[in-house]
Amino acid sequence: MTDSWALFDRIADEYDQVVPFFAGFAARFLEVVDPAPGSRLVDVGCGRGAIATAAAARGCAVTAVDAAPRMVSLLAAGHPEIDVRLMDVHRLDLPDGCFDVATGGFVIHLVADPVRALGELRRVLRPGGVVALTVPGRREPGHRWERFNRIWAEATPPSPARVDVAGWLAEAGFTELRAVDIAVDIPVPDPRTCWDFHMSHGFAARVEALDPDDAIEFGRRSLAELTRMHDDGGIVLDSPAVVHLGQAAT
Ligand SMILES: C[S@@+](CC[C@H](N)C(=O)[O-])C[C@H]1O[C@@H](n2cnc3c(N)ncnc32)[C@H](O)[C@@H]1O
Repeated sequence: MTDSWALFDRIADEYDQVVPFFAGFAARFLEVVDPAPGSRLVDVGCGRGAIATAAAARGCAVTAVDAAPRMVSLLAAGHPEIDVRLMDVHRLDLPDGCFDVATGGFVIHLVADPVRALGELRRVLRPGGVVALTVPGRREPGHRWERFNRIWAEATPPSPARVDVAGWLAEAGFTELRAVDIAVDIPVPDPRTCWDFHMSHGFAARVEALDPDDAIEFGRRSLAELTRMHDDGGIVLDSPAVVHLGQAAT
């Protein structure tokens, strides 16, 4: 799998601005991880700073890293309290053992070599330091988004790449592994806003890969289904995710 940061560089201006979806997950994520005020925390694949800004607001000393230059410049411009760096998570230009907590929201399944990236997180954590990573969760069968997801799956099959965060963490040498389910419930005012939201994050890559006529037809079908959902009780982004936690060996 190739790295995804080039896509995120193109969509950085809109990312998490249409609907505060990733910020919502970051709030739930930090309730689970619960870093102590004063903790030295590195957030990799920081994007617009969903986790980094919330961790800084809790009193953590935050270093935020992303490979997309536009993400880095937007976050740095708005948050002088955060040390924001342009870096590839596979090659962190950071000293050994200098962080208490390493976080990554919705990034580890998108990088080219997850075990190598986690090896870097282990290297920069102090012995006993905590790693915490979110990946998308699975909805139960019969969920309200099933028809919408079927339209997406027909037009743009999801990546078959295997996501095995616990296996990757173990291979990178982390111990005390555990996983916690979290979710957000974010109402969306109208179908167009929901479509714009889908075009403002990683899903945009699946639409960009279509030929132009197929993309128009796919957009028409998606909006029709979003309109049906809107008219049938409203659109809510009720999405699951999994937080994977581990510890760097002492
Ligand atoms: C889905 S976004 C998540 C952003 C943020 N963590 C959040 O929860 O909103 C994934 C981010 O990872 C970054 N990224 C992808 N590959 C990367 C790499 N190899 N090194 C550093 N960042 C990377 C992308 O540029 C993007 O900002």
